[in-house]
Amino acid sequence: MLKPLNLTNKPTPIEKYEFDNFTLHIKRDDLNGLVDSGNKARKLEYLLADALNKKSDVIITAGYLNSNHCRITAYFCSRLGLKSILVLNCLKRKKIEKEGNLLLDYLFGAEIHFLNEKEYKEKENYVEGLIKKLIKKGFNPYYIPTGGSNEIGILGYRDCFLEMVDYLKENKIDGIFCAVGSGGTYAGLLYGKLISNLDIPIYGILVDETIDYFKIKISEILKKLDCQIDEKDFHLIDSYIGKGYGIPYKEEIKLIKEWAKRGIILDLTYTGKAFYGMLKESKKMGFKNPLFLHTGGIFSIFAHKEYLK
Ligand SMILES: Cc1ncc(COP(=O)(O)O)c(C=O)c1O
Repeated sequence: MLKPLNLTNKPTPIEKYEFDNFTLHIKRDDLNGLVDSGNKARKLEYLLADALNKKSDVIITAGYLNSNHCRITAYFCSRLGLKSILVLNCLKRKKIEKEGNLLLDYLFGAEIHFLNEKEYKEKENYVEGLIKKLIKKGFNPYYIPTGGSNEIGILGYRDCFLEMVDYLKENKIDGIFCAVGSGGTYAGLLYGKLISNLDIPIYGILVDETIDYFKIKISEILKKLDCQIDEKDFHLIDSYIGKGYGIPYKEEIKLIKEWAKRGIILDLTYTGKAFYGMLKESKKMGFKNPLFLHTGGIFSIFAHKEYLK
């Protein structure tokens, strides 16, 4: 059995916020560390343990320009003495500012490869070529898929669910909410729920892609862990994506500003949309005790500051 590295602070706290007619519980996975703040840390504790077991010396991963996952990968690699290579989708941007997560990536010494949107669609081929070149040079590379969402990475969120089991029961939590970007966090929570036999619905608020895409992806990941998932276990919601990935909307920005005044920083790409969706859906369903998993993202707000000024 793969033993995860211990690079972050766990268990993370759960805070209660009383307002309107309910108690909102927030699982603060954004407080798991300073530089490693956010959900990718738990996944990377497993993935990097696997990489070290395989004696890898270079970690390659991919993501959007301001990827939280890439920042935490670069950070952990610098702590572990590994070389990191990030393949970043710079979308349609002509000028790339070193800010937010990207600034940190550089500080951690990551080697960065920028691909435009079209090239990024073929990133698996690009990475394959990169791996071949590295092997030729005598390196032993390890590739982590986008968001660390595979059968290894999601174990971090199985553990997160198990960490919460007693709390969920004691506080009569009626639904758990999280953002869905690459699907691994949701898949891990679902896996934890199934193995602990708890009947609490887990709602995934999509920030990109489609419900069908994630149903297939998550089922395939869980199948690799011998976990059969039933259609009724999926509660995926696509009504809060707005105009697309990374494009915030008015109501979300307003909410982010409101919650910052209570000390909760939500980001514009993931947690802002998920939090907005969670509040709307909880009201609609008459929940009294919803739990929101705060998955981090603080550094990306510095790259999207034009929306928050
Ligand atoms: C801050 C934040 N929250 C949520 C997510 C979504 O998690 P997942 O990729 O596991 O679906 C991500 C990454 O995609 C993220 O960076």
